[in-house]
Amino acid sequence: MNLYAVIGNPVVHSQSPRIHTAFGEQTNSAVDYRTIQAEPDSFPSTVRHFFAQGGKGMNVTVPFKQQACAMADSVTERARKAGAVNTLWLEQGCLKGDTTDGIGLIRDLVGNHSVRLTALRVLILGAGGAVRGLLEPLLLQKPQAVVVANRTPARAEKLVADFQGMGTITATGFGSLCGEYDLIINGTSASLKGQVLPLSSELLAKNCVVYDMMYGGEVTPFNRWAGDAGAARTLDGLGMLVEQAAESFFIWHHKRPDTGTVLTDLRADLQQS
Ligand code: ATR
Repeated sequence: MNLYAVIGNPVVHSQSPRIHTAFGEQTNSAVDYRTIQAEPDSFPSTVRHFFAQGGKGMNVTVPFKQQACAMADSVTERARKAGAVNTLWLEQGCLKGDTTDGIGLIRDLVGNHSVRLTALRVLILGAGGAVRGLLEPLLLQKPQAVVVANRTPARAEKLVADFQGMGTITATGFGSLCGEYDLIINGTSASLKGQVLPLSSELLAKNCVVYDMMYGGEVTPFNRWAGDAGAARTLDGLGMLVEQAAESFFIWHHKRPDTGTVLTDLRADLQQS
């Protein structure tokens, strides 16, 4: 049995089954990948039952990533720093956890879009779980400086304090943001509520690349703003979704799938829907 699953709530619209099935076909790996909806109370028992039944690997999505980190017997250093786990598997009877979201974004930027992060001035918007997971992989690329700006500045300050010593990283609120940035990453959930961030177009340096962690069939509201504000390139988070899946696939199967074809197919479907 080569059973895999993504667990979340809601999870019915997850693209993970489709992505992992495609990776399995490409690499001749047997993959039976399902979705499992859980409730907070039943999350740990559902995970244990899955692995007790012979499940090989599990992805974890909203709202269970922190709970998964807490229940794993051991987690990677990057998952510990992120405080979140999106990939679970068994190793010699122990439940292991990792997070591939941050490295997925970096691989999308560097590999798919040829953005060299070294020496860039980076602005990150938001200070929630999505941003926490991104910081270590980003700082390992040695950008010149990273500024984390958040609606609630104290939350950004707390987050940044956990990553001191890994690079030049500071925190601020939107109101006191200044300077120019070569890369701006939106990790807030403001767009979900149809809200626009109060940002000046002067934050965008001449060749500024803007990356919205969100994606959709149309240009995201944040990327629409960025395009109008003069961004040289606007990218969305669909590539991050496929790349984080590829990293999980690698952990489980020790094979690197070709993400390009899967990304092209997903994009085409998204634009049609
Ligand atoms: P996630 O795990 O997806 O990052 P989260 O932890 O709830 O979700 O974080 C959401 C982020 O979006 C936070 O940075 C939040 O700002 P606050 O810390 O001030 O709450 C940000 N956010 C959500 N709605 C926003 C809005 N309307 N304007 C600006 N920032 C917003």
